[in-house]
Amino acid sequence: MFRSFHVNDIPQVYAIERLTQAAPWTEEIFRHCLHAGYIGWVLELDKQLIAFILVNLQGDECHILNIAVRPEFQRQGRGRKLLEYALLNMQQQGANMAYLEVRRSNTRAIALYEQLGFSLIGERKDYYPIFAGREDALVLAKGL
Ligand SMILES: CC(C)(COP(=O)(O)OP(=O)(O)OC[C@H]1O[C@@H](n2cnc3c(N)ncnc32)[C@H](O)[C@@H]1OP(=O)(O)O)[C@@H](O)C(=O)NCCC(=O)NCCS
Repeated sequence: MFRSFHVNDIPQVYAIERLTQAAPWTEEIFRHCLHAGYIGWVLELDKQLIAFILVNLQGDECHILNIAVRPEFQRQGRGRKLLEYALLNMQQQGANMAYLEVRRSNTRAIALYEQLGFSLIGERKDYYPIFAGREDALVLAKGL
């Protein structure tokens, strides 16, 4: 169902990124992440890429860097399954903690993270760019 995120997937991943993020990453950022050794998975349906996740595993900690589901496929349980899949994989590779940052206003993503057992451990002031100014990040963590 899920498969590894390869460099060839970047154009389709970037298309999802532009459709779903207020300040989308560039294709260059995705390329840099893969070259840096970050790990990801994608979900394909009828040869169309509909979701992706990107994670940085460092020793016994992992950091969820990005996750998105194409708008027309959202709210069908796919984001949750993809995140669960990535967390299980990270755990199997030795991670015992997972961390992530999320925009304070991103209530959908926060609801998903809380559902999977993440809790608030901190805040980063003015972490994200927005159309006019900056927005705080919430820092969430979960033991694996
Ligand atoms: C966040 C995101 C990945 C969730 O993916 P999804 O496939 O839509 O989520 P799921 O259907 O698996 O939902 C899982 C849970 O998330 C929460 N959730 C998801 N969409 C929601 C919505 N529109 N409103 C409220 N809660 C929502 C709910 O708790 C939901 O559980 P429930 O359906 O049992 O109530 C998706 O909304 C997305 O791509 N958003 C844009 C990109 C983004 O914000 N990424 C996170 C950056 S930190």
